[in-house]
Amino acid sequence: MTSFSEIPDLDADQFQRFAKLIHEKAHIHLKDHKITLLSNRLRKRLRALSLGSYDEYFRYINDEATAQKEMVHFLEAVTTNESYFWRTTQNFEALKRYVLPDLVKEHRGSKLKFWSAGCSTGEEPYNLAIEIVESMKNLGHFEWELLGSDISTRVVDFARTGIYSGRKIERIPENILRRYFRKLEDQDAYQVRQDLREKIKFDVENLFEAMHPGMHCIFCRNVMIYFNRADQEKLVNRFHEMLVKGGYLFIGHAESLQMLDTPFATRPTEEGVLYQKKS
Ligand SMILES: C[S@@+](CC[C@H](N)C(=O)[O-])C[C@H]1O[C@@H](n2cnc3c(N)ncnc32)[C@H](O)[C@@H]1O
Repeated sequence: MTSFSEIPDLDADQFQRFAKLIHEKAHIHLKDHKITLLSNRLRKRLRALSLGSYDEYFRYINDEATAQKEMVHFLEAVTTNESYFWRTTQNFEALKRYVLPDLVKEHRGSKLKFWSAGCSTGEEPYNLAIEIVESMKNLGHFEWELLGSDISTRVVDFARTGIYSGRKIERIPENILRRYFRKLEDQDAYQVRQDLREKIKFDVENLFEAMHPGMHCIFCRNVMIYFNRADQEKLVNRFHEMLVKGGYLFIGHAESLQMLDTPFATRPTEEGVLYQKKS
């Protein structure tokens, strides 16, 4: 019997079939050179299910009896979830310097709504929550709510625990770590303060199906790099619809709206370009 590590990489046809399915379900666009990466990730599913070939797995994931349950694992296997606290701090600097003062002034008396779209294991929404709370020292108290969402069930479950260690937290300033986290006994790990954990709503959802109108600020960083240009445009225009007039979109440092046909207005700042809904 062949061991799982002996199963060769997907052939070109098999890769195309899986890539098409991944695009259909998550809009993730896998380039041809990802064939080894995808083979390695799917091999783990073959092992977990004791299936002997990718073709068998393709039938399994398309079989009405097993598709729904397996899709959760499939999407987990094909998404890349790297995240950590204090990632691209220029975004948070811009948030504190321009965006929050602007939103608080323009929407005085209303609850400000934030969304971390593609939140992975939760570092981004918790980081955002910390910056919001910190900003109240200067801006005074305001009401807010925050949604964190991702297509992968595993990372959303992880995010809900709010427990982090190692590289994920190494950039957090000491005073912030002390104020917003508690060290877990006998573990080299920290948990986000309970009141912040309770403040954030986490959901499993596909960004191309999610509909959250009335947002004041959307963070969707390091997610669009996995989509092709047409899907990036579709998504950015959906975000535009879901933002209130004057609302802001934050994207990752390797991402840009420059080549996309979108109505966002741009505002250059020392911390990078801000994207704002003007109309
Ligand atoms: C690299 S992580 C980015 C995490 C965080 N935004 C950051 O910048 O640290 C990308 C996340 O996007 C999620 N994702 C990819 N396609 C998605 C989709 N169609 N709907 C929702 N989430 C998606 C993945 O599951 C993954 O957790």
